[in-house]
Amino acid sequence: MTAKSDRIVLAYSGGLDTSVAIGWLSQQTGKEIVAVAVDVGQDGEDMDVIRERALSCGAVEAVVVDAKDEFAEDYCLPAVRANALYMDRYPNVSALSRPLIVKHLVEAARYHGASTVSHGCTGKGNDQVRFEVGTSALAPELKVIAPVRDYAWTREKAIVWAEEHDLPIEVNKKSPYSIDQNVWGRAVETGFLEDIWNGPIEDLYDYTQNPATPREADEVVITFEAGAPVAIDGKPVTMLQAIEQMNKRAGAQGIGRLDMVEDRLVGIKSREIYEAPGAIALITAHQELESITIERELSRYKKSVDQRWTELVYDGLWFSPLKRALDAFINESQIHVSGDIRMTLHAGRAVPTGRRSHASLYDFNLATYDEGDTFDQSQAKGFIELWGMSSVLANKRDEKLAGE
Ligand code: ARG
Repeated sequence: MTAKSDRIVLAYSGGLDTSVAIGWLSQQTGKEIVAVAVDVGQDGEDMDVIRERALSCGAVEAVVVDAKDEFAEDYCLPAVRANALYMDRYPNVSALSRPLIVKHLVEAARYHGASTVSHGCTGKGNDQVRFEVGTSALAPELKVIAPVRDYAWTREKAIVWAEEHDLPIEVNKKSPYSIDQNVWGRAVETGFLEDIWNGPIEDLYDYTQNPATPREADEVVITFEAGAPVAIDGKPVTMLQAIEQMNKRAGAQGIGRLDMVEDRLVGIKSREIYEAPGAIALITAHQELESITIERELSRYKKSVDQRWTELVYDGLWFSPLKRALDAFINESQIHVSGDIRMTLHAGRAVPTGRRSHASLYDFNLATYDEGDTFDQSQAKGFIELWGMSSVLANKRDEKLAGE
């Protein structure tokens, strides 16, 4: 048997680049390749087919990890609690999956005695950073090879290699898009989308129907406990089931489509089309429930924590002290985020129409303008005088100085 340190663990997707990487990496380095495919609900090809393909391409071992529940519970749920929308829009679909894939790569590398891990990212994107910063945080002893980046592989070269070596992959030469998808959503880029004046075409979408198509609205009630969705229309769900069910129902109403130019962490702006129906529906409901269960000062402060958390995750710092500390803050903020949100799903939008919670801070008797008002309006006058005192003084001073 070859010495165990002669192995490379490769993050394997089943696609062209990583299939070619198996033979190419072992030829270049003389090491054996262990292919690890992590199932985060990408919902494409059968994972057994992907496993077999890795072996046919020359991997000595091929492992498929079913990480769907783990992804939902440990990565998507914290994102709901943080209302994670990068640049106020993108629910961090790819960014959330990378630390989980890294965790499984590192576990596999240790189990199989590999000295190196490998991924198929290019040198221009965010994902290379997420893979490598994550890997060195968890296992600083591991080396990383990125064949597409480090050896300037192109799609054309990969196609030639695949044909010459008779690899069992269908090369879809026509698809001009780069797609990444998981249960939290789907990202599509490149091709004609690189001209940011070109509008997206219906063909790009897979998780969502066209929001402009006339159809009946759908009404849903989502129940949360401590910031986690636990039931839909009264039926208990796991986090994974909540996402899957909302992907179907919100997707059928065209909810969660995004067309945006985003700030990549490598400094460039890039255009991406996203669809994340379940993520957008769940975050919308969660934000609505926070609005009645979180006290004002905590709520205002949490907005900046949410944004920072989201940027850290986008920027590949999942395994970092600040991210961990913000997790603790966010978890503490969620203890009362329990209750029901009713939403109408229609024409591309999830619109909250009702909210109730045993932990609600909304007090009907304080808010009402009708009979039963318990708010003592006579106290408002004095409050306003003191509240405005500092600006009144400053304005008086400014006027006086301007007149001198
Ligand atoms: N821009 C997104 C991110 O950095 C998605 C990256 C992967 N996108 C793709 N179409 N392959 O999180």
